[in-house]
Amino acid sequence: MSPKALFRAEHIYKNFGVVQALKDFEIEIYPGEIRGLIGENGSGKSTFSAIASGTLKASEGAMFLEDEPYIPHGTVDAMDKGISMVVQEQGTIAGITVAANVFFGKEAQFAKHGFMDIRKMNEETKNALEAIGVTGIAPQTLIDTLSFEDRKLIELARSMYAKPKLWIIDETTTALSISGREILYALMERQKAAGGSVLFISHDIDEIMDKCDSLTILRDGTLTANLKKNEFDPDRIRSLMIGRELSGNYYRSDSGEKGISDEVVLEARNVSAGLLKNVSVQLHRGEILGIGGLSDCGMHELGKVMFGSIKPENGQVLKDGKDIVKDTRWAVKNRIAYLSKNRDQESLMPICSIKDNITLPSLKDLTPVGPVSLRKQKELAKTWSEKMDVKAPSIDVFCTTLSGGNKQKVVLAKWLGKKSTILILDCPTRGIDVGTKANIYQLIEDLKEQGISMILISEELPELIGMSDRIILLKNGEVTGTFLRSEGITEEKLIHKMI
Ligand SMILES: Nc1ncnc2c1ncn2[C@@H]1O[C@H](COP(=O)(O)OP(=O)(O)OP(=O)(O)O)[C@@H](O)[C@H]1O
Ligand SMILES: [Mg+2]
Repeated sequence: MSPKALFRAEHIYKNFGVVQALKDFEIEIYPGEIRGLIGENGSGKSTFSAIASGTLKASEGAMFLEDEPYIPHGTVDAMDKGISMVVQEQGTIAGITVAANVFFGKEAQFAKHGFMDIRKMNEETKNALEAIGVTGIAPQTLIDTLSFEDRKLIELARSMYAKPKLWIIDETTTALSISGREILYALMERQKAAGGSVLFISHDIDEIMDKCDSLTILRDGTLTANLKKNEFDPDRIRSLMIGRELSGNYYRSDSGEKGISDEVVLEARNVSAGLLKNVSVQLHRGEILGIGGLSDCGMHELGKVMFGSIKPENGQVLKDGKDIVKDTRWAVKNRIAYLSKNRDQESLMPICSIKDNITLPSLKDLTPVGPVSLRKQKELAKTWSEKMDVKAPSIDVFCTTLSGGNKQKVVLAKWLGKKSTILILDCPTRGIDVGTKANIYQLIEDLKEQGISMILISEELPELIGMSDRIILLKNGEVTGTFLRSEGITEEKLIHKMI
């Protein structure tokens, strides 16, 4: 007899207006199991997670937890019933402390004589953080002052504190550094060992194959397969996801033998800023310059410095060897584009349409004088939204309605539509499915052919090696090594200079 499912969902449908995000979806998750959930961008993974964790209501269908009908009324109720979730986008609430985030909606337990016992809540928060292996974040800290990654760790603490039966992790690994990932994986194992279950969403097939016991595959809102661990095979998973064969190697195939142009288009000269100490890097015309290291090595800051959004304390950033990149406004005007790792906060206006987002930096180019030509605006948005294959009913919908990966495509479309000549890409394929990833790599290659220069900041070594002409590694804010594609680069060589 097969064991009883801990959680079951049957005939789940979810419509958003004309969009059918889920169609007759079903899933069973067993105790002591880490079940993966994979599917292309917009296939319905986050929608299903939102339904299971009480954020959304299904249009149709039923769910059962330990064989009892399970109908959550909001996320706090779902948590009380035994299902908690870490969301794909930022899930913490700005303007309040770490402790207030961990116990949001559950403050009543700290009520004492009509007052909140803040001291006790802070103490309990410290325990909650320690329980997941996080020290060094004070409970009374305002959440806004924390990094994107630390905020994710706060979400982990909150969702684990509830001691869930089913713990849902939606596309979280890509927001974490290597050490953050280790925390997450250890917690997943702990959850499993305690007889609980995990539903783990990721676009990384290797990670899924490594961490999961079983896998559910979605395509366009429909269940396509359930695989057991011994049935895992990357090509099979890919083709079940996208309905066509996709070869495993989608990086550049040349070995950089053409070399790099001598012309320097963007340069950080002896820059110190925060963590960065006396960093000098030069980006050449048509070059893909990879920048890597451990997450806190300063690479994300370096990207911001080169875009003018962090001012160097010492040194300067120069375009074409002469003009100082003084701020972001100057940078955008001079066709430097920046794609942030923290998409929702720094790269996108979520409650504006796809059209407005794509065309925002280009409005002045479309109609230099007088009111903006709405026809041209629409044309530009349409062209780039189609080129990037943004999945949405129209370019007029708000970006809040898009899946995570489709938001990323909008951000890319915005900068490409602006005809930027220098692109600073911080983790450009974060949260992007394999099919679209292949398209983005192809696009990066095409842009290189057109003479566009790119800085590719990435935490994924295969991506850096696969795409870069040159890789610069940082450690503790200093350059520790430079590698040339034409001389052959291996992960071992890089790791040696990273750690
Ligand atoms: N609030 C909403 N309003 C309208 N459409 C929505 C809304 N939320 C999601 N959708 C649509 O539902 C579909 C499924 O989206 P969902 O976010 O579940 O995808 P996903 O599989 O999580 O994708 P990704 O890998 O990009 O995160 C998409 O077409 C998306 O645009
Ligand atoms: Mg999603």
